[in-house]
Amino acid sequence: MTIGIVRKIAKTLLGKATKILPVKKVGPKYPLAFSTWGDEELEAIQRVIDTDMYTMGKHVKQFEQEFADKFGSPHAVMVNSGSSANLLMLSLLKWKYKLKGDIIVPVVGWATTYFPVTQNGFRLNFVDVDPNTWNIDVTKIRDAITPETCAIMPVNLLGNSCDYTEIKKICEEHDLKLIEDNCESMGAVYQGKHTGTIGLAGSFSFFFSHHIQTMEGGMVLCQDKDDADYMRSLRAHGWVRDLPADSHLYKKTGNAFDDNFIFATPGYNVRPLEMSGAIGSVQLKKWPGIEQRRIDNAKYFVELFHEKPFLRIQQIIGESSWFTFGIVLDGELKGRRAEIVKALDEAGIQNRPLASRNFLKQPVMRDLDYIASGEMTAADDIHDNGFFVGNGSEDIRKNIKELYSIIRSFCKIKEPRGLGNVKRMLIGK
Ligand SMILES: Cc1ncc(COP(=O)(O)O)c(C=O)c1O
Repeated sequence: MTIGIVRKIAKTLLGKATKILPVKKVGPKYPLAFSTWGDEELEAIQRVIDTDMYTMGKHVKQFEQEFADKFGSPHAVMVNSGSSANLLMLSLLKWKYKLKGDIIVPVVGWATTYFPVTQNGFRLNFVDVDPNTWNIDVTKIRDAITPETCAIMPVNLLGNSCDYTEIKKICEEHDLKLIEDNCESMGAVYQGKHTGTIGLAGSFSFFFSHHIQTMEGGMVLCQDKDDADYMRSLRAHGWVRDLPADSHLYKKTGNAFDDNFIFATPGYNVRPLEMSGAIGSVQLKKWPGIEQRRIDNAKYFVELFHEKPFLRIQQIIGESSWFTFGIVLDGELKGRRAEIVKALDEAGIQNRPLASRNFLKQPVMRDLDYIASGEMTAADDIHDNGFFVGNGSEDIRKNIKELYSIIRSFCKIKEPRGLGNVKRMLIGK
């Protein structure tokens, strides 16, 4: 009996009983991340199971097209994580563009913002972040540029765009390539353009805590068809079989025996699973609702938390997609993070350090090739006084209010009159 027949019999006998249903977990009262899944995602997985084809195929292709259309980009290449998306962008700069030298990055980002830079033979060139936006401080980039600088890789932190007017100006003046680590900022907009589509290429993550969730998953959006073809080859062993017939990277002969085993780039295997592609299409349809809920939570967060003498929140440029809610303790609460974190833990409010903090302080730095220009004052403040709590697709305004009350209870100086003493702040959308 073949495996196919055994499967068919098992399916007939067990039918729907074989379907695995998710168990709703009891977690913290206010978690860092919220599931955006429902029955539709399970049905999408089932559709892939029904085809018995689990490796990258038509569902991934369809999701790529939908994602590119949604964010106004001509090309999308899906991969198995946001980290892999960064890896492909950096390998594109190294192998296709033949760049060498150093790449300017903000000193607050994510570990796998930085590692692909090193892994591709570039030197990290760290610049401090802006004390208000927590994104790369554009006033410090020019001083950091060296004769070897070849690119800038800003990170759009926590759903918030960088100042791309200034960054693009600097890139033009110094002939630098621009790639965006946009893994935290799907849906953010800068001057009418989605972040992740502003430079040569931009990365996205679909990990559980992110804006949409495909189990693991990531995407690169890029402007140029040849770049997309190159990354499609890098994504899968360096082979050319996923390239279109009109690719400049390799002209297919039509003979599958050859075409399927031609290796044209020094590739990896960072392909996504077909199930992730199918889930991605479902999640993308839900995105407007998810986004709106995140923004509504954010409006309330901003009302409560902005312009307080005892903390700072992120200053928004453009329209934020509100990945999470960052807080940097200030004034009378500066230096008291440990006590506050303990109180939040006790109240079931999950929290964590603000992104990578000052990455120069991480032990791995001893192994990385880098330069760092000037003081990292803003990053040090984030390192010592920053943390974030979750945002997501549920109404968490009650949790946000409790968060505020707990933090407020550590202040000696009392609130003038209740929580209603707020000025509205423009947060976009
Ligand atoms: C800025 C940034 N870059 C890259 C990544 C990596 O994404 P992934 O977890 O999908 O590998 C993350 C993950 O949170 C991130 O925040």
